[in-house]
Amino acid sequence: MEYGRVVLLTGASSGIGKITSEKLADLGLRVYGTSRRANNGNIVYSNEASQGFVEMVQLDVCSDQSVKDAVSYVMEKEGCINVLINNAGFGLAGAIEETTAEEAMAQLNTNFFGTHRMCREVLPIMRKQKKGLIINIGSVAGIFSIPYQSMYSASKFALEAYTEALRIEVRDFGIKAVIVEPGDTRTSFTENRQYTAESENTVYPNSKKSIHKMIKDEKSGDNPIETAQAICKLLYKKNPPVRVTVGPVYKLFVQLKRVFPNRLTEYIIRRMYS
Ligand SMILES: NC(=O)c1ccc[n+]([C@@H]2O[C@H](COP(=O)([O-])OP(=O)(O)OC[C@H]3O[C@@H](n4cnc5c(N)ncnc54)[C@H](OP(=O)(O)O)[C@@H]3O)[C@@H](O)[C@H]2O)c1
Repeated sequence: MEYGRVVLLTGASSGIGKITSEKLADLGLRVYGTSRRANNGNIVYSNEASQGFVEMVQLDVCSDQSVKDAVSYVMEKEGCINVLINNAGFGLAGAIEETTAEEAMAQLNTNFFGTHRMCREVLPIMRKQKKGLIINIGSVAGIFSIPYQSMYSASKFALEAYTEALRIEVRDFGIKAVIVEPGDTRTSFTENRQYTAESENTVYPNSKKSIHKMIKDEKSGDNPIETAQAICKLLYKKNPPVRVTVGPVYKLFVQLKRVFPNRLTEYIIRRMYS
């Protein structure tokens, strides 16, 4: 284990975050998993053999104060945070024309600014420790922009840019940063997806069909354990890569994007979603 045993992981109440926190506890890590509905101090998982556990902490990544309180709570208990995993997020569906600025801002507030709030609070701690690992959960939708999910894609593209810059800025302080990009994954993400108000009476004939395809792909998507395993591996890497795409098929798609002409990529996405 390269970084130490105390992990703060946002969005641990379900899906990728829940399974990742349990796998990390199995490795002997002391995991503080967050949820907006948590009661501090509630241990939801423990592994006697490894002595790892998952304790829930109340946190809304959209609130500066909530982020401060959660980080202070972990610091009071442990005196350090070795690994921060920014996983909390949700999806928003609807055509661009049918998305208000408020709806778009709410999407970026959780998925992008939520990560920024967490980093702002944890970076001073890691800087003093002269060591730390930050793992941001992006998406393959942060490499390929998906129609009728533009604001979700924008939030994940933004995380790509953020992580690339962060890595360079914090390198000299011994802090590493990496973005993990899952593809379609079977979690509560599908049920938790929000829809823009105007999408109910959409004037875009392809929008409903496209969203239906997304839902179908997610429901038959990867097991979240695959992302959990990819995250666990990073904790043993002294020099983690910039990005880790989860799953061989998605890895291939991402590599092909680099060599395919843009029009060909666009054609494929259009065929998939329209
Ligand atoms: N499933 C996929 O197909 C897929 C693909 C690529 C990337 N991802 C990414 O993977 C991450 C996890 O998603 P998932 O698939 O595991 O979905 P999920 O099962 O819906 O879990 C989302 C988690 O985020 C938390 N969350 C949402 N809004 C929050 C807020 N404002 N403050 C704090 N926590 C918040 C939820 O906690 P509470 O509601 O309890 O607060 C929940 O624990 C997300 O960033 C998502 O974009 C998912």
